[in-house]
Amino acid sequence: MQKEAIKKNDRVVEVFDLFVKHIQAFFEEAKLNHEEYTNFVNWADRLGRTGELPLFADVFLESHVLRAMYTDTPGTQPSLLGPYYIEGSPLIESKNCEPLVLTQRPDEAGKVLYFKGNVSSVDGHPLSNIKVEMWQNDADATYSAFDSVAPKYNLRGHFYTDENGDFKVKSIMPTPYPIPTNGPTGEFLEYADKQPMRPAHLHLMFEAEGHETLITQVFPDDDVWLEEDVADGVRLDLLTKFEDVGDHVEASLDFVMRKN
Ligand SMILES: [Fe+2]
Repeated sequence: MQKEAIKKNDRVVEVFDLFVKHIQAFFEEAKLNHEEYTNFVNWADRLGRTGELPLFADVFLESHVLRAMYTDTPGTQPSLLGPYYIEGSPLIESKNCEPLVLTQRPDEAGKVLYFKGNVSSVDGHPLSNIKVEMWQNDADATYSAFDSVAPKYNLRGHFYTDENGDFKVKSIMPTPYPIPTNGPTGEFLEYADKQPMRPAHLHLMFEAEGHETLITQVFPDDDVWLEEDVADGVRLDLLTKFEDVGDHVEASLDFVMRKN
């Protein structure tokens, strides 16, 4: 079969010319010699072959892109989506007015957490019946569908806010975790003398008509890794008190979405 001819794409030419221009300036400023250039290409090649490109990009680049876009704009600050999101999480519904329960094993280890929030628009009105997606790691600091032995959608689910924009979910405390260190990303961490830990966090994604999708994270305000987060995902308005009240922990945070 004959390959279809590809037409010249002016946008590709424009973006590629810009890329070359800036990468040349970068090489010049970094005074990269040829051996260093070759080392970089080999490392980037391994990054791709090991499947770590999304990990590296999410941990070291995504945060900078978001910070540049959103600092100083009203509304809850986004944080990185990260490499551990998967589509197709189950819908979780409330039974007999009980709090929602994030998908979990019957014997799920970890301290029980009740997390509640309110979602509103920047104009102040509550966003009722909007989709909230939530995912987190378990007491072993592993994510389902990745490094955990748990079922694919464990500690993942989506639900809808009530008529006042409120929600309350029963889950477990998330755990601080190291990003993978045994591949090219870990190699980079060692050369850069960076530690691999992320503070404990819940991942949340909010979708509402007429609003920008808000992808963010929530952090306990006393986590020891807050200042050293390897992915630089911590923002002041994403910190909240996770209060230990004996047999469980309670936390809450309100979220404000930007209009499209
Ligand atoms: Fe995470």
